[in-house]
Amino acid sequence: MTLAVVTDADLAHGADVLRRGGLVAFPTETVYGLGADATNPVALRRLFTVKGRPPDHPVIVHLADAAELDAWAIDVAPVARALAAACWPGPLTLVLRRAPGVPDEVTGGRDTVGVRVPAHPVARGLLDAFGGGVAAPSANRFGRVSPTTADHVRRDLGDDVDVVLDGGACEVGIESTVVDCGHGEPVIRRVGAVPAARLAEVLGGPLATSDEVGGAPGTLEAHYAPRARVVVTPDVTVLVDQVAAETARGRRVGVLAVDPPSRLAPSAVVLGAPADVDELAHTLYARLREADARGMDVVVALCPPDDGLGAAVADRLRRAGNRSADA
Ligand code: TXA
Ligand code: MG
Repeated sequence: MTLAVVTDADLAHGADVLRRGGLVAFPTETVYGLGADATNPVALRRLFTVKGRPPDHPVIVHLADAAELDAWAIDVAPVARALAAACWPGPLTLVLRRAPGVPDEVTGGRDTVGVRVPAHPVARGLLDAFGGGVAAPSANRFGRVSPTTADHVRRDLGDDVDVVLDGGACEVGIESTVVDCGHGEPVIRRVGAVPAARLAEVLGGPLATSDEVGGAPGTLEAHYAPRARVVVTPDVTVLVDQVAAETARGRRVGVLAVDPPSRLAPSAVVLGAPADVDELAHTLYARLREADARGMDVVVALCPPDDGLGAAVADRLRRAGNRSADA
């Protein structure tokens, strides 16, 4: 195994490739992003082609510093400033009214733009060296499992990406929380790495979620999916029974759970044994990829409780399950 070390020269090269309209994959604290110059429509169109993403899906603009916010957004409400002050640099995306000049390719033609200031030192180094906004969706093909290592990116995107900056495994492992502050009261559009309780603490009360106000672009019901079918259950006893039933049908079964039970059908494959929900989140996407690599037909997952990163893990498992149920 080689140690992941990104030098200043790598960052300068990455910034240069962005300036020339190229695509640079880079680590953030959540997942790897596939970056393009957010002011370059040609580069942005290539980004969408490589991802296989529909052109009306908006992408997040990554900034080196909150001070750059006003170049991208207008009418920034005090609640948005408060969230930015409390959570940046970090895994929070704010949806705000877009400033004039923000390309339609970034916003999917909407009147809003998603922005975030990532915390990962390699992301920050790249943004500093580039000196502008970097549009970056997760560096996977559309609808598939997000990458949390440089190796995942290389395997997914191959030669379609010009540079991959290898910063090792992403610490959180789940995407940023998306909060819409561009349409009045703030609304959580995507649960993610910043727990809802933390946002409530900053704003002095709970936020609405998109379940209450209607769906958001790019948060499709079916998403984040491996090839294996994903079955999610909230109960250990049901999990054990499901594993037994799938095994009896001759299926290759993988099990994903915090502290997985020992009394499982012998042929079931335990996909790691995370000690807590943070470790489950950190390893989730790698484990789903592992299930595919090992030829699992089904992953039976134990849904974590709602607190901390549990809500975001539960959301991704549910979406992974929806996709594989359709396929
Ligand atoms: O953690 C993350 O957010 C990662 C890293 C690379 O930063 N990025 C990521 O990007 O997950 P992506 O493109 O896979 O997901 C972006 C999310 C989508 O749910 C999209 O709908 C939402 O952000 N979003 C971005 N701009 C928006 C806008 N103008 N209005 C509504 N939602 C927006
Ligand atoms: Mg994504």
